[in-house]
Amino acid sequence: MRPMAPNRSLIGLDLGSREVKAIELTSTREGDVVTAFARRSVQEGQDPRGVLPDLLRTGGFRARRVATAVSGRSVIVRYISVARMDDEDLKVRLPSEADKYIPYDVAEMVLDGTRIGDEGDKPQMKVLLVAVKRSLIDEHVALLADVGLTPVVVDVDVFALENAFERYRATAEGAPGDDQVLALVDVGAKKTSINIVKGDATYFTREVYTAGETFSEEVAKKLGLEAPEAEALKRDPGVRGPEVGETLRPILDDLGGEIHLSFDYYENQFDQEVDAVYLSGGSSRLVGLERSFAAAFKKPVRTWDPVSALAVDRGVDQVALRAAAPQAAIAVGLACRLAG
Ligand SMILES: Nc1ncnc2c1ncn2[C@@H]1O[C@H](COP(=O)(O)OP(=O)(O)OP(=O)(O)O)[C@@H](O)[C@H]1O
Ligand SMILES: [Mg+2]
Repeated sequence: MRPMAPNRSLIGLDLGSREVKAIELTSTREGDVVTAFARRSVQEGQDPRGVLPDLLRTGGFRARRVATAVSGRSVIVRYISVARMDDEDLKVRLPSEADKYIPYDVAEMVLDGTRIGDEGDKPQMKVLLVAVKRSLIDEHVALLADVGLTPVVVDVDVFALENAFERYRATAEGAPGDDQVLALVDVGAKKTSINIVKGDATYFTREVYTAGETFSEEVAKKLGLEAPEAEALKRDPGVRGPEVGETLRPILDDLGGEIHLSFDYYENQFDQEVDAVYLSGGSSRLVGLERSFAAAFKKPVRTWDPVSALAVDRGVDQVALRAAAPQAAIAVGLACRLAG
């Protein structure tokens, strides 16, 4: 039987640039259960929110409360160094500290600051500063309200990713402990997000604008194909596997190199190595990507399944959910805010 209480359900909504992913979690006595899942592709240039009415109607969603995220160039993340202070003081002082690092009026931004690392009794401490324009969040919330949803959380992609991983960690391949440094790398359509975490804290995040679209364009250009054919060939190269692999090798090497630069930066700043890499996002399915990254990083690289840690209601299409699992990581991380 499906649980009824609407407040015990939350939809994690990941409005990706090429695919919208939505997962509904419902809290029951036996723990959180997936009670709906759907994804819809978005045409180039189309607003991802346009697919929502149909997705909600046909996807079996019963909740109206959603947790969603912003990402991309509109989100500013900085690592700042401030005088040592407690969390209360940090809250009060954050706007004036942020003002030194952000090229916009801080009064127009929503700010968040989290101390990172343990630097003992040094006079300075490192803080992860996140700033998003208030108008962007307001607009986002208004558009979701227009389709009958009630946004209760607006998060940032990479933090939702980390949240999903925390849920999955106990069963993760390689059983990484809290003391290990892990890089969560989400390869989407327009961007690749990198989040370096230790325990439940983010130490570094960055977005690189090379991802699935770049791979498709490369296949189209080098093999002389139209965009839809290139996309299909990339996803399922069949006998042309070696040719597609050869075509994408330089761009995968470049992307691997970019990600590696972030690892180097982290390793220099915090004097610790990244132990393993966990891949998610639709493009983590690209044939040869995992192998190519493993060679570039010389570290274990694993694609993970954020859904494996969750119970799934009988009404949900299990096959579709499992097939899309790595792509649903951010949506899962958002829906996990249920308890919060
Ligand atoms: N089997 C596959 N092999 C390779 N690539 C795939 C496969 N399936 C999907 N993709 C790619 O995954 C991408 C979509 O993934 P995802 O849903 O994570 O992106 P998004 O969230 O819409 O994008 P972004 O986060 O960049 O805004 C597309 O570029 C698509 O080509
Ligand atoms: Mg995405």
